[in-house]
Amino acid sequence: MKNLVESAEEVGIKINGLVFKPLAAAASTLSKDETKLGVSLIDIGSTTTGVAIYNDGAIRHSAVIPIGSASITNDIAVMLRISIEEAEEIKIKYASAKASLSSSKLDIEIPSDNICSSNNKISEHELSTYVEARMEEIFQLAQNEINRSGINNSLTYGAVLTGGGSQLRNIVPLAKELLEMPIRLGKPTVNIQGNKDFADKPIDSTLLGLLLWPYHSNEHKPLNRTIISWIEYFKQIIKEFF
Ligand SMILES: Nc1ncnc2c1ncn2[C@@H]1O[C@H](COP(=O)(O)OP(=O)(O)O)[C@@H](O)[C@H]1O
Ligand SMILES: [Mg+2]
Repeated sequence: MKNLVESAEEVGIKINGLVFKPLAAAASTLSKDETKLGVSLIDIGSTTTGVAIYNDGAIRHSAVIPIGSASITNDIAVMLRISIEEAEEIKIKYASAKASLSSSKLDIEIPSDNICSSNNKISEHELSTYVEARMEEIFQLAQNEINRSGINNSLTYGAVLTGGGSQLRNIVPLAKELLEMPIRLGKPTVNIQGNKDFADKPIDSTLLGLLLWPYHSNEHKPLNRTIISWIEYFKQIIKEFF
């Protein structure tokens, strides 16, 4: 963390503070009702998956699992003997989190400059069986954390999936089946004007959560205004009055 702060400051970025990533993602995706009545946020990133479990309006348990969506890319690269870049493209275009929901008739051309592979086609279904296995592992580890929180029976709203890894096709039905709870995708639902259409996907939830953070953290401390901000606040009220 120290190195990260130092390298940002070296290029002239002033650091106001550090925020635990799943909390930032939660700030832009979870509703008040969800955090009050119980929800588990599962933020599937590239090399890590963050879990943040809320109940009664506060965080009850958090964890970072050292596997994320990049593991799927690696699996595809190793399996098909192609580059990470090619594997990433195949994952985003064709992979499904549930193999049973993908076609066994649709074949994907494997990039042909690899001489090792004798067969240069694979069906979406076969590709997705490997993807599903890796996603199952991630959800199993997330489930362990949910169990460890001790409040798994109070998660009225089940789990919200966010992060780039949650953009995988058919991830919601897979999560429903494995976690046996209500599941929804967590897109940033914040009131930042203009974020629609350019930063409204699950992959953007951390970024928008960070932008919202000062507002979000002050929201819980309404009495923590500085004298100057109180003066500004009253000035505004008086202005509105006239
Ligand atoms: N449409 C998609 N389908 C599957 N995976 C995706 C998709 N879009 C992005 N990803 C994956 O999301 C990951 C990046 O997510 P991100 O939330 O930005 O990670 P991090 O928060 O760790 O920086 C990458 O592994 C990428 O392959
Ligand atoms: Mg992310």
